[in-house]
Amino acid sequence: MKKGNIIIKNANQLVTFHGYEAKAGKGMSDISIIPNGALVVTNGKIEAFGKTEDIIGKYDGEKYQVLDAVGKTVLPGFVDSHTHFVFGGYRAEEFSWRLKGMTYMEIMERGGGILNTVKATKEESKEALFQKGVKLLNNMLAFGVTTLEGKSGYGLNLETEIKQLEVMKEIDAVHSIDVVPTFLGAHAVPPEYKGREDEMIEDIIRDVLPVVVDRGLAEFCDIFCEKKVFSVEQSRRLLSRAIGMGLKAKIHADEIVQLGGAELAAELGAISADHLLQASDKGINAMAEKGVVATLLPGTAFSLREPYAKARYMIDSNCAVALATDLNPGSCFTLSIPLIFSLATLYMNMSTEETIAALTINGAAALGRADTIGSIDIGKKGDIIILEYPSYHYLPYHIGVNIVEKVIKDGVLVYDKLKGGEQFCWEK
Ligand code: NIG
Ligand code: FE
Repeated sequence: MKKGNIIIKNANQLVTFHGYEAKAGKGMSDISIIPNGALVVTNGKIEAFGKTEDIIGKYDGEKYQVLDAVGKTVLPGFVDSHTHFVFGGYRAEEFSWRLKGMTYMEIMERGGGILNTVKATKEESKEALFQKGVKLLNNMLAFGVTTLEGKSGYGLNLETEIKQLEVMKEIDAVHSIDVVPTFLGAHAVPPEYKGREDEMIEDIIRDVLPVVVDRGLAEFCDIFCEKKVFSVEQSRRLLSRAIGMGLKAKIHADEIVQLGGAELAAELGAISADHLLQASDKGINAMAEKGVVATLLPGTAFSLREPYAKARYMIDSNCAVALATDLNPGSCFTLSIPLIFSLATLYMNMSTEETIAALTINGAAALGRADTIGSIDIGKKGDIIILEYPSYHYLPYHIGVNIVEKVIKDGVLVYDKLKGGEQFCWEK
């Protein structure tokens, strides 16, 4: 893995988000700004940061690449903690059906939706999935994403679930972005299991989960807990077994119908519950109490024309909220971080500070990595972005525009818009 030495100096604002754990409630506004800031990354890790005049003289410029960030803003790299970026085919025609009034669940019940992508993913070669995934990640890198979670779930059988997870591992090995894999073998009910969902869960527990765990192919286990997909009871069974086998739990919870997924996440001590458009107040408060990160995916609510999750209520109830793209070929085909900024600030009443916390330190917490990424702190990875503008307020203000100028990963400059968006580092 490539590790660099880099100094960034004279930043108009160095925004650190100081801390090694999730920021909940009011803590999400605690952003810590250093004016005229500098930071030093040595051998891939942050060694020092502070005011430029206090830092710079102490380091031998010869050993470091030095970037001048005068008039610019420096932030921790973004963490996209919920995506489905490895998939076969596309579903552009389904988007047009939805524009004509068909709902996401109606399309799914007719064998389209996720099952459509399952078929395409089975047919697509590993090499094609790899190339497609890399292309998406190259674009994510340009948006300032330095760590990203990816889910399986377009196989629904041993062979193709493993194929997806292996592709993610292969991409992680070569791409600048760190890829964190999640096993989502219970993402939909294929025709052969229709009406036999309990058996499908048992089969996953017996035949698939052990292979995933033994081969170290996933860190998390997730499930689509939803009416007409998997029940709370089925979700409890799968996730508690996965936890017992050493995985951490995530859950697609209360997205379309209020089933009690948020409550289940709290009961199981899941690391995150995601979507939560319909989550009950009781469930939200239980999550706050148990420290389960609420991962909100406003791109999906926007794309499905569903109501947004109650971010304000969640933060005011002392939840730690993360935001992610949910990049996938069906419900939300986007990798636009600027879109997420607009939706969170304008439609979910999140402040700019809370939105950035949700995309950095809390995204890291949703991946169990708040101690190593997500803020500018001593010992953390040198995953940094430089914005073209002098303050972090430009992030939601410049609507729909990517204002990330440079991306540094493990102390290596890996993307520079000023060099025509060139990506420099392709091997770790
Ligand atoms: O997070 N809701 C379930 N799963 C995905 C959608 C996957 C798909 O439509 O392909 C989601 O939105
Ligand atoms: Fe999802």
